[in-house]
Amino acid sequence: MHRDFLAIPDFSPQELRDLFQLADDMRCGRYVGHPLAGKSLAMIFMKSSTRTRVSFEVGTWQLGGHALFLSPRDIQLGRGEPIADTARVLSRYVDGIMIRTFAHAEVEELAKYADVPVINGLTDLLHPCQVLADLLTVRQHVGGWDGKRVAWIGDGNNMANSWINAAYRLGFELVLACPEGYDPDPVLLARAQTAADVHVVRDPAEAAAGADVVNTDVWASMGQEEEQASRARAFAGFTVNAALMAKAKPTAIFLHCLPAHRGEEVAAEVIDGPQSRVWDEAENRLHVQKAVMATLMGSESAKA
Ligand code: CP
Ligand code: NVA
Repeated sequence: MHRDFLAIPDFSPQELRDLFQLADDMRCGRYVGHPLAGKSLAMIFMKSSTRTRVSFEVGTWQLGGHALFLSPRDIQLGRGEPIADTARVLSRYVDGIMIRTFAHAEVEELAKYADVPVINGLTDLLHPCQVLADLLTVRQHVGGWDGKRVAWIGDGNNMANSWINAAYRLGFELVLACPEGYDPDPVLLARAQTAADVHVVRDPAEAAAGADVVNTDVWASMGQEEEQASRARAFAGFTVNAALMAKAKPTAIFLHCLPAHRGEEVAAEVIDGPQSRVWDEAENRLHVQKAVMATLMGSESAKA
């Protein structure tokens, strides 16, 4: 029986705590195991990537395994071979599959037909590995999320939806400031609201007020490039600048999953300033994904 990681609620709160402890042990050099010795990870990228590609590839190697980078230019999936067939065939060769693609349903389809763990490396709906890395960064720099307030400023996109899933599982306060028409997924939002204080506002200052964490992302995600101009108009006033950061707690940290557009969703003074933790955040991709792979593909089984 194998387990997938398609969304943060795939792990229980206790499993998440164990995962972050393992990731932190890896970060601090306290973990030196090779649970992926003799194992391989297939990495399917239907969209571009710097962090996800490099951190999964290096992380697999550090755990004793081997990773294959598969782009649509190279594999038959890009020429129309069904996802289900790709899943069945890859399962005969490899011990896990990481996929980054457009429709979330494609990842669910892959997971349905694969006999090995499937890890979501970003879809239009979710980016769970990134929000695990963000949470590890919050644990590292804010001391955890219990009783803390997280502000999301900008698009109700895959990152916003994964933060909503994290609040649902872990119970912290999450305030999202999104312009009208750019709200997060209503189903995920409604579910989270049954378990945590999660709400959407229109004013970035209202979301940032008293926040422990201020978080943003690009206004046009991958696949939305032609909407860049209309989105720039819709998101006017949503730039995270020093004035907005001043509304948050003086100890607040700034997070951005990267790549960033300085002068659009974030001012250089913030992302390059003293409250920014974006480089630790990027590094933490490596540690959390190693913890996920060790748990799902290796001998470090999650202790529910
Ligand atoms: N944050 C993130 O997923 O970056 P990449 O697109 O470079 O993988
Ligand atoms: N929301 C962004 C995240 C990139 C890591 C996108 O989907 O392009």
